[in-house]
Amino acid sequence: MNDKKAAKRFAHPMPVIFDTDPGIDDAMALYLLARHPALDLRAITTVFGNGSIAVTNRNARILAALYQQAVPVAAGAAGPLHDNALREFSSHVHGDDGLGGVADLAERTALALSPNAQIPPLDARPAHQLICDLVNAEPGAITLIAVGPLTNLALALRHDPSIASKVHQVIVMGGAFGTAGRCGNVTPVAEANVINDPEAADLVFTADWPVVIVGLDVTQEVVMEESYLASMQGRGGAVGDFLWQATRHYQDFYFGCDGIKGIYAHDASAIAYAIEPEAFTLRSGPVRVAMEGIARGQTIQDFRKPSGAQTPWSGCPSQQVCIGVQAERVLALFDQAFDPAFDLNTDRPAGQGA
Ligand code: BDR
Ligand code: CA
Repeated sequence: MNDKKAAKRFAHPMPVIFDTDPGIDDAMALYLLARHPALDLRAITTVFGNGSIAVTNRNARILAALYQQAVPVAAGAAGPLHDNALREFSSHVHGDDGLGGVADLAERTALALSPNAQIPPLDARPAHQLICDLVNAEPGAITLIAVGPLTNLALALRHDPSIASKVHQVIVMGGAFGTAGRCGNVTPVAEANVINDPEAADLVFTADWPVVIVGLDVTQEVVMEESYLASMQGRGGAVGDFLWQATRHYQDFYFGCDGIKGIYAHDASAIAYAIEPEAFTLRSGPVRVAMEGIARGQTIQDFRKPSGAQTPWSGCPSQQVCIGVQAERVLALFDQAFDPAFDLNTDRPAGQGA
């Protein structure tokens, strides 16, 4: 980012609601979001996915305390919109506690850091209500960054369709569009966040609001290798050690399935897009999600020139899909989150993050 652009973004940080299923890579993404001065975390909303809603609620509260973020944390959906749809918790990927077996350690550390030795309780409102309240309070301002199943966003749209025109933008980690053979990580054609609730994803992608999709096409290009992860140790107070330990389980999983000695930076890439969109190449066109049969959960963009023929994409708004990324810029951004000299968030006025 050049100095002028950086100065502008830091002077007017982007207000963000983070919708998440923490999750090891979610925990990493939240650290970058909490630390970066171009972003202003306003709330965390949880959803099932990498664990049950009980697990993701607990982890979101622990992470908010560990990263010293005094923002509401609201509980979201425990399952997909259609209750009979496939529901899978990715405990084989993220561990039974969703944080690679170190959630208890993170909780103890967070308790020690907390001024009143407490992990903050959940907000009284359900996630979709909190999203609607914050968006309606500041029309045009809020960016939604969603890095789990899209159920809460779909529920918010159903609850108050007017929010579509009041959200600044929606950034989604999810889906896969086949760039360089990146097609799916749960089935040959479906990515985890989308297949966990395809109906919700289709609603979100076809709503009349601007969506940017940061899918496997780019997130699998951003590999945090073991040496990079090891370099987090001893940095960021207790956070670097926590993330190093949490990623041990995640790295073993990826070595077992893809043979990489590292991890994909899925959710952190969505945060990187919010900070440095210039690091990504976008492609425009409406996006739909396949609902039936063996293609269930597949994300398909129609990026052809309009021919006038009627298709399931006709009449749907054009959205942006990331098809290229400068991976080294995403890795550099995440590394900066640990840099004490980069800790500009401490200069924020009270109430705008820690
Ligand atoms: C996505 O699925 C979850 O397991 C990760 O947290 C990420 O959001 C990757 O497909
Ligand atoms: Ca996630």
